[in-house]
Amino acid sequence: MNSNEGTSTEELHPQVPAPTVPLLPSATALHRLPRLSRDLGRELWIKRDDLTAVGVGGNKIRKLEYLLGEADAAQADVLVTIGAVQSNHCRAVAAVASMTGRDCHLVLTGVEPQQATGNLLLDNYLGASAEFHPDADWAQTFAAAEAACERLRGQGRRPLLIPVGGSTPTGALGYANAYREFGHQCADLGLSPAAIVHANGSGGTQAGLIAGRALLGGDVKIVGVGVSLDAELMSQVSDGLADAVLRDLGSQVSQRQPATVLGDYRGKEYGVPTAAGQEASDMMLKREGILLDPVYTAKAFAAIVANDAALPEGPVVFWHTGGAPAVFAGE
Ligand SMILES: Cc1ncc(COP(=O)(O)O)c(C=O)c1O
Repeated sequence: MNSNEGTSTEELHPQVPAPTVPLLPSATALHRLPRLSRDLGRELWIKRDDLTAVGVGGNKIRKLEYLLGEADAAQADVLVTIGAVQSNHCRAVAAVASMTGRDCHLVLTGVEPQQATGNLLLDNYLGASAEFHPDADWAQTFAAAEAACERLRGQGRRPLLIPVGGSTPTGALGYANAYREFGHQCADLGLSPAAIVHANGSGGTQAGLIAGRALLGGDVKIVGVGVSLDAELMSQVSDGLADAVLRDLGSQVSQRQPATVLGDYRGKEYGVPTAAGQEASDMMLKREGILLDPVYTAKAFAAIVANDAALPEGPVVFWHTGGAPAVFAGE
């Protein structure tokens, strides 16, 4: 099914605007995982946002379908963003900058490796410039990005600064729209999922899904698996962003599902693989032939393998958010 076909979905759900700069030619696949369903004793499905058509895929492409609208409105000729050295978000921004005839400048936390691998290698191939801040925290990195924008303006350029993970109310709209696509697919398949499980890094994906559900209906439980900051903090961030999305759309919705973010799967810290994640990733690859990444999706799938108590009875959809290049980072 191509949910972008025709105008009927817009007429049915006018509250979620269509992407301002469409990048996806079709809906991403939603399919059953037959072997894992058998082995884990639960009906399991997967939503393939690892295959979002451009820039080696992942969830950031959906956010950028809306964030590029801001770049157009600002007549930006260079996109500036921030992230870790192996940031999927930075690679996705580099890809869409190049596709839309813009330059891209990345402000990265961490040490410049002697040899670029994984996402950083792709950043280079895509023509992005990068600066490295080995000991900077997020506030310092953001300040460095603002300084980079100032420098660019001094050179007569028109930069747009995209915050970490593209998790702004505008970026999160990408996942309200994804929820709509998902709803149509579930209806076509006769699927009534009890839960969606996905990785939560900066909150935008979960916020968009929650806002989408509030606007479009459904009773699926949206479960984020925290991989970056403290889970309590990430549920507050996701709730705040979901409210901002609904407010910006002028929604009259008075109730929405509170964000559930699980804190038991991140491990020691962001970016450091866990044994449970490795086991989950191994199962997904060997049983279903689908690659997970160690930083986000392996940790998220580990919550399903562990049959976390937050998961209700019934079919579960694992929402794959991408990240494959990190597997080839060799770090
Ligand atoms: C592969 C992957 N999955 C999940 C996420 C988390 O998405 P969000 O930042 O919207 O919570 C990211 C974000 O960086 C990611 O790169």
